[in-house]
Amino acid sequence: MYGSLQGKDYISTQDWSDAELEMLLDKSIELKQMFRSGVPHRFLADKTIFLLFFDKSTRTRNSFEAGITQLGGHAHFIDSSTSQIAHGESPKDTGIILSSYGHGIAVRHDLVPGEGNTYMREIAQWAEKPVINMQCDVDHPCQTLADLMTIREIFGKNLRGRKIAVSWAYAPSYAKPMSVPQGLIMLMTRFGLDVTLAHPPEYTLMESTLQAARENARKAGVNFEVVDSMDAAFEDADIVYPKSWGIESLFHKPEEALEISKQYKNWICDERRMKLAKKEAVYMHCLPADRGNEVTDAVIDGPQSVVYQEAENRLHTCKSIMAMTM
Ligand code: CP
Repeated sequence: MYGSLQGKDYISTQDWSDAELEMLLDKSIELKQMFRSGVPHRFLADKTIFLLFFDKSTRTRNSFEAGITQLGGHAHFIDSSTSQIAHGESPKDTGIILSSYGHGIAVRHDLVPGEGNTYMREIAQWAEKPVINMQCDVDHPCQTLADLMTIREIFGKNLRGRKIAVSWAYAPSYAKPMSVPQGLIMLMTRFGLDVTLAHPPEYTLMESTLQAARENARKAGVNFEVVDSMDAAFEDADIVYPKSWGIESLFHKPEEALEISKQYKNWICDERRMKLAKKEAVYMHCLPADRGNEVTDAVIDGPQSVVYQEAENRLHTCKSIMAMTM
């Protein structure tokens, strides 16, 4: 039934048609129902996925590990720093060898602009098994699929006329990857939402992703705009998605980047800003959130927050991606 997707890499939602993404979303709904009702769903019995991490993770690692177990298979966690990758082993050799041991390879390589997407595409070029992007420098397609599932659960499948505000927010903890906002503007413009992106001038996203969002919006007949005010973005929004990200040219200069970010400490999602959005608007965040900086406790713990529903959907969507491609 899902033969057409078997073996297909999931590196960016841009590589998948609307119809293919709809198949992933349908399967995610089915898997969520089966999980919640305790119905066994061992669609990947005895299959192995390798989870290769160049960065830390809570949701992604554990949703993939729990998910493959629930599907009847097994995950191997690989920390790049304790594998031969740290001694320089090539993505070609890694891809060929791991794919000969199992049925799928998933990679997180998100902290250096210009590296992660290229790395996983090289693995995919040589691996005979599907490669899944667990977050790179360009896209976080597992996160945005879960976000779209969550938005549809709340607002229904027809999102036309609804607005999402994707905004930069202040966080002093570390330079967070740019891939979540980039993935959001590329995906949400394809599925009926008007998208407003807001950020201070230094925090522009990769031009290729802005171009993709403009083109997707044109094809879908929705609005895509970029503004320099969080308040303006929140006006009349149905969904607000404020989160921090780093400056593309300064990921290797964290102290310089932190100094620049301090000018924008007032870019926080608080109760005043939530009132600018529609009354029934929801607050989303991929997590982890920098509480007290990106968002106040009153908002993230408040009635408009859907962050735990969103995080739960990471499980159901990553199981769908594995079940359909492996
Ligand atoms: N949202 C997300 O990808 O979370 P982790 O970094 O914990 O995997």
